[in-house]
Amino acid sequence: MRYLVTGGAGFVGSHVALALIEHGHHVTILDNLSTGHRAAIPTGAQFHEVDLLDTNRLNTILANGPWDGVLHFAALSLVGASMATPYHYLRQNMLTSLNLIEGCVRYNVPRFLFSSTAALFNNQGNTPLSEDSPINPGSPYGESKFLIERALNWAERIHGLRYGCLRYFNAAGADAKGRLGEDHQPETHLIPLALDSALGRRPPLKLFGNDYPTPDGTCIRDYVHVSDLAEAHILTLNRLDTGSVTYNLGTGQGFSNLNILKAIETVTGRELPWDWAPRREGDPAILVTDPTRIRTELGWQPRYTKIEDIIETAFRWRLAHPNGYRGL
Ligand SMILES: NC(=O)c1ccc[n+]([C@@H]2O[C@H](COP(=O)([O-])OP(=O)(O)OC[C@H]3O[C@@H](n4cnc5c(N)ncnc54)[C@H](O)[C@@H]3O)[C@@H](O)[C@H]2O)c1
Repeated sequence: MRYLVTGGAGFVGSHVALALIEHGHHVTILDNLSTGHRAAIPTGAQFHEVDLLDTNRLNTILANGPWDGVLHFAALSLVGASMATPYHYLRQNMLTSLNLIEGCVRYNVPRFLFSSTAALFNNQGNTPLSEDSPINPGSPYGESKFLIERALNWAERIHGLRYGCLRYFNAAGADAKGRLGEDHQPETHLIPLALDSALGRRPPLKLFGNDYPTPDGTCIRDYVHVSDLAEAHILTLNRLDTGSVTYNLGTGQGFSNLNILKAIETVTGRELPWDWAPRREGDPAILVTDPTRIRTELGWQPRYTKIEDIIETAFRWRLAHPNGYRGL
């Protein structure tokens, strides 16, 4: 199959592109390298350095099909930044995605896989979130993703585009063979930040908020290994022939920020320096999924079920790449 992958030079997109190649597919990556890295583009993928706002170049690539599917990872994806510049986030994520969806319809792309997010939910209780839990984004970032899910729904109803919305919980870890890893600039994710603090490459870690309604007062999240995410994409692509789907994608286990700190110390064998900081705007208290639907419908089973194993892959990548992808 021939797949076009937007955002394939980024963290999740590069791991999924690699998995597609390993499954024998042809992969073309479209990325403007705004947060991605040329060195993260897997061997064997074709690459176009293009911005999704550039409809001329986008449509030229889409016209050069036929494509069996498009996987759409490219986005602005920082919750905090979206609270500071809400209209920029809404405009950018909506416009880029609408350009792509419209182009896919125009050039008869049959399958569309979209990186959605747990940030659609603003959970105050501790019940695991199902696909049918109320949508109530706590940030413009989450809202932009919800609007894109709705746009896909209309593309199916009006034009028959088959789509899959995969709502990732917290993507973490790195390719087990060390070929790819996580390198966001700026980094906002807990595990890479904590690893760098433990390694003495950053100042003490800041933990945002100790007064959440959780057992230890810190936020609780569901971490899913990025290679397990990649496998879920492959399974979902195969499923799209029988109709559109929406899945929550996590392991169903919740870890508090303090649990993660402890696991980082166990894996690294180092003491992790850290301090409290005030809550970060837009962060819900608990985001844990109930993964029943994707497990029963697709038979998806995460290989990484222990948080220490997820952290260990990220730790190995950071040890081998102290500057991330820079200089590669
Ligand atoms: N990382 C997570 O834990 C997580 C959780 C939930 C959802 N998501 C979603 O998954 C997707 C990938 O996340 P990630 O962590 O890999 O992010 P990332 O920043 O590493 O990757 C995004 C990629 O998209 C590219 N890009 C951004 N804007 C573009 C544009 N206008 N045109 C072309 N390319 C553009 C960037 O250069 C980058 O390579 C995003 O849509 C994000 O919202 C991620």
